[in-house]
Amino acid sequence: MKTPLKDKWVLITGASSGFGAAAARAFGAEGAKLLLGARRVDRLKKVAAEARQTGAPEALFHELDVTKTFSVETFIAWAKQKIQNLHVLINNAGGAHGLDTVAGGKDADWEAMIQTNVLGILRMTRAALPLMPPDAGASIINIGSVAGHAAYEGGAVYCAAKAGELQITRALRMELNGTGIRVGTVDPGLAETEFSLVRFKGNAEQAKKVYAGMNPLTAEDIAETLVWVASRPPHVNIDELLVKPVDQAAIHKIYRRTAR
Ligand SMILES: NC(=O)c1ccc[n+]([C@@H]2O[C@H](COP(=O)([O-])OP(=O)(O)OC[C@H]3O[C@@H](n4cnc5c(N)ncnc54)[C@H](OP(=O)(O)O)[C@@H]3O)[C@@H](O)[C@H]2O)c1
Repeated sequence: MKTPLKDKWVLITGASSGFGAAAARAFGAEGAKLLLGARRVDRLKKVAAEARQTGAPEALFHELDVTKTFSVETFIAWAKQKIQNLHVLINNAGGAHGLDTVAGGKDADWEAMIQTNVLGILRMTRAALPLMPPDAGASIINIGSVAGHAAYEGGAVYCAAKAGELQITRALRMELNGTGIRVGTVDPGLAETEFSLVRFKGNAEQAKKVYAGMNPLTAEDIAETLVWVASRPPHVNIDELLVKPVDQAAIHKIYRRTAR
C-alpha cells in the first residue's frame, strides 16, 4: 500500500525556485503540509501561496542558508514550534558555481559548492533527524546529479560535491537501518531551472545555450519523481534514481536538433 502524504509534514530546502518550488506544488497537490526554506524569502512566499492553491493545507516558510550552521539551527528551532513529526526531508538546496578548470578555479566557487551540496545536507539532516519519527514511511530524499556519477571538464568540484552527496546518502541509509526511515537520492540530468543561470552568475545567454536544441527535464518532472519516491509503500526504499532527458544519453552525449 502506498504511503499516504496527506496531512504529513514535508520539509523542502531550496524551495524558492526550480525543483524545490515544483516539489512544494506537487506535494501540496497530494495534501501534504509544507515547511519551505531558502535564502530568498520573497520567492518562498510566492511558492507557499502556489502550494496552498494546489492543495497544501499548510505551507509555512522561513529563511534558510544551508551554508551556516546557525541558520540551519534557527530554521529547525522555528520548525519545532510548528510541528511535532517531520515525515519527509528533501535536501535539495545546492547548485554549481562556475565552469572553470581546476587550474583556473576560484576559492569562492569551490567553497560555495562544497558548503551547499555537501555540508548543507549534513547540517540539515543532523538538525532535522530529531523531528523524524522512527517508524516506517518517513523519508530523507537527497538531490544528487548525474555529475555525481561521471566527471566532465570544468565540473571537478561540482562532480566531487555530488559524488559526496551520493556517499553521504549511502552511509546515512546504513546508519538509519532499523529505524524505518528511508534514505535515497534522486539524481537528475540536464534540467532547465535557474541552475545554469546561477552557474554562469546571471548570464542568461550562456545559461540558455546549455539547453539549446535539446529537450531538457523540467522542474515538474523531478517534483513528480520525488512524490513517487516518498509515496512508495513503507517497506520499499528507492535507493538511487538516475533521471535523465532522453536527449542526454550520457553526460557528454547530448542530441541537439540545432547547432549551439
Ligand atoms: N537543473 C539541473 O540540471 C540539475 C541537475 C542535477 C542536479 N541538480 C541539483 O538540483 C538541486 C536544485 O537545483 P535546481 O536545478 O532546482 O536549481 P535552482 O532553480 O537554482 O534552485 C536552487 C535552489 O537552491 C537554493 N539554495 C542555493 N543555495 C542555498 C543556500 N546556501 N541555502 C539555502 N538554499 C540555497 C536556492 O534558493 P536561494 O537562492 O533563494 O537560497 C534555490 O531555491 C541542486 O542541488 C542542484 O545541484 C540540478
